[in-house]
Amino acid sequence: MIAQTPPMGWNSWNYFHGNVTEQDVRAAADALVSTGMKDAGYVYVNIDDTWEGTRNADGVLSTNSKFPDMKGLADYVHSKGLKLGIYSGPGPKTCAGYEASYGHEQQDADLYASWGIDYLKYDLCSYHEIMQEQAPNDGAAQMRLMIDAYAKMDKALKSTGRPIVFSLCQYGWDAVWEWAPSLGGNLWRTTGDIRPTWESIYDIIEQQGGLAKYAGPGHWNDPDMLEVGNGIRDPRDPGRIRYLSLAEDRSHFSMWAMLAAPLLAGNDLTHMQPDVLSILTNRDVIAIDQDRLGHEATRAYADGEVEVWTRHLEGGALAVAVLNAGSDRYSSHPFHLSLTKLGLHGPQAGKDLWTGKEVTLTDDEPIELASHDILLVRIPSPK
Ligand code: GLA
Repeated sequence: MIAQTPPMGWNSWNYFHGNVTEQDVRAAADALVSTGMKDAGYVYVNIDDTWEGTRNADGVLSTNSKFPDMKGLADYVHSKGLKLGIYSGPGPKTCAGYEASYGHEQQDADLYASWGIDYLKYDLCSYHEIMQEQAPNDGAAQMRLMIDAYAKMDKALKSTGRPIVFSLCQYGWDAVWEWAPSLGGNLWRTTGDIRPTWESIYDIIEQQGGLAKYAGPGHWNDPDMLEVGNGIRDPRDPGRIRYLSLAEDRSHFSMWAMLAAPLLAGNDLTHMQPDVLSILTNRDVIAIDQDRLGHEATRAYADGEVEVWTRHLEGGALAVAVLNAGSDRYSSHPFHLSLTKLGLHGPQAGKDLWTGKEVTLTDDEPIELASHDILLVRIPSPK
């Protein structure tokens, strides 16, 4: 069985967008190994949009000149003990306007299997227009068309006999979490595209409430790929990148782990600050994400701009995240936890997963949290 825990790896889109080349993907695979990320659990090397070429007279798709030898690339990635992922969609074109799988589903699935592909992200994009053309003004019929299109590719992948993780990308429309698992989806995007800003990350966190019950071994909510280590161009000074702060990176990574999200790094692994690498390879936080029970966190309560989330872990342990989403970037924020609201009784001994220190959570001791920072504690024996 695949994706028994949320898939971990790297995807080209968040950093390279449409510029990614085979060299970048090879370098990312090398970096996963040399940085220790592979040892920490990152296995999938996923090529996103813009690898596609054209179809020949028989409909067989080729790669474009940025990816001269997909089979060779797959062999290279596999030789490192890693797996290779690829991208397509049910429509005629991908989001970036390249060739997608409409009418060629089985042919494409067979091609991926012949290359040795291990993961497919299948992005709705232009299929939305097909839905509108085929069922104008009929939302229910459009939804059926969409479900059928995803089911078709799932069947095509299964019939190759190769285990290929199936990742649905249709931005969380039509309560995808209700139908994706039954048609073989291993993960499904729950939102629109993430951006490397706190506003985007927090907005996505806010949209995850109520989805926990749909996640579990083999099928996961996907709040989109990681932006840890990324930033946006400063609009006033386009030569400068405004990176997420380390507190924001920590909060982003911690919350994705609490949410049992796929951990697909989206930064340039070949030029990574040590602080960013140490966030991405924090084993204690990864262990929360990869906990075998697969119980996604739920929000216990919010108090002003502070949110408290809990996640039940194997062996009766509990993870508690206290997130200061407050907008004042530089203030620190003393906060009193209510253990009763978490169903707990009296002081709780645990480990702060970012400092590595033993801590005791109480109602009395104020928690100091800088803006956009997080406290993440694992309580082995909650009382
Ligand atoms: C959509 C997806 C992104 C990325 C791009 C590629 O926007 O949501 O994650 O795959 O397409 O074109």
